[in-house]
Amino acid sequence: MKVLLLITVVAYAGSTPTIVQPGRILRELADEQDQLLSGKIVNGQNAQITEFPWQISLQQGFLGLIWSHICGGNIIDGKWILTAAHCVDGQTAGNLRIRAGANAHAQATQTVSVSRIIMHPQYSAVGADGYPNDIALLELSSSLTLTNGGSVNKIAMPDAGENFDYKSCNISGWGLTSGGGSSPTNLLYVTMQVITNSECRTRWQSVTSTIRDDHICIFEETKSACNGDSGGPMSCLDDTRTHKLAGLTSWGASSCDGTYPSVYTRISSFRSWVSEQCNCF
Ligand SMILES: *[C@@H]1O[C@H](CO)[C@@H](O)[C@H](O)[C@H]1NC(C)=O
Repeated sequence: MKVLLLITVVAYAGSTPTIVQPGRILRELADEQDQLLSGKIVNGQNAQITEFPWQISLQQGFLGLIWSHICGGNIIDGKWILTAAHCVDGQTAGNLRIRAGANAHAQATQTVSVSRIIMHPQYSAVGADGYPNDIALLELSSSLTLTNGGSVNKIAMPDAGENFDYKSCNISGWGLTSGGGSSPTNLLYVTMQVITNSECRTRWQSVTSTIRDDHICIFEETKSACNGDSGGPMSCLDDTRTHKLAGLTSWGASSCDGTYPSVYTRISSFRSWVSEQCNCF
């Protein structure tokens, strides 16, 4: 209960927010076996999983009996999930599973255990450095069955250096609907605009100066990612109307009120690293 209290204090600490990695708080709660489930998108709308078939729920087990949603993630191949490093830092593969194909994270059409975690070797949990390289691959113990137009499918990787500035993109997840708020049963999404990194730096400058080139920010007042959305997708449409995975939810303001941009790991900067690890595209 100490953790819950801390979250409440942080969330209402005043106008200058603390920066947080949303996945961490839920992991601590899961560690305490608190049954509070994941956070949600703030000011979002209900999503159908068939609209976001690449979205998975990453779940942490307790004695293999109780499973808690801790983060989002993305199917990039039948055997591979891309998520945030902070979601799996210190975890063992045997204690993780993913669920795919249902609007509610407590349900699934496919549930598969994780056999291997590959964290980016230069990931750092230091907020002052901007939590760099917040990306990890999860190898699944068996392949998901992917169906075009169905509830479980992969999302395309962006090209190296592909730019999404000023595009309207979707973020989705089962994260909290407000800082310190409640968690949704159903998957939510919200559409927001990708801003340039220089605008992102300006908007964050009173709190932190570390927006890296390999971050991508999305911003619209009152809208935000929140606790439990970590590792989940920022999906954008390219010129051929193909959905691309532009970003992974990495960090943001603890208040989740949309005053500050939500900061994502920029996938176009990590394309070759991911490809070397999974050999899957
Ligand atoms: C966002 O999701 C909505 C609902 O599925 C969809 O109509 C819209 O095309 C999506 N936008 C992008 C950029 O993916």
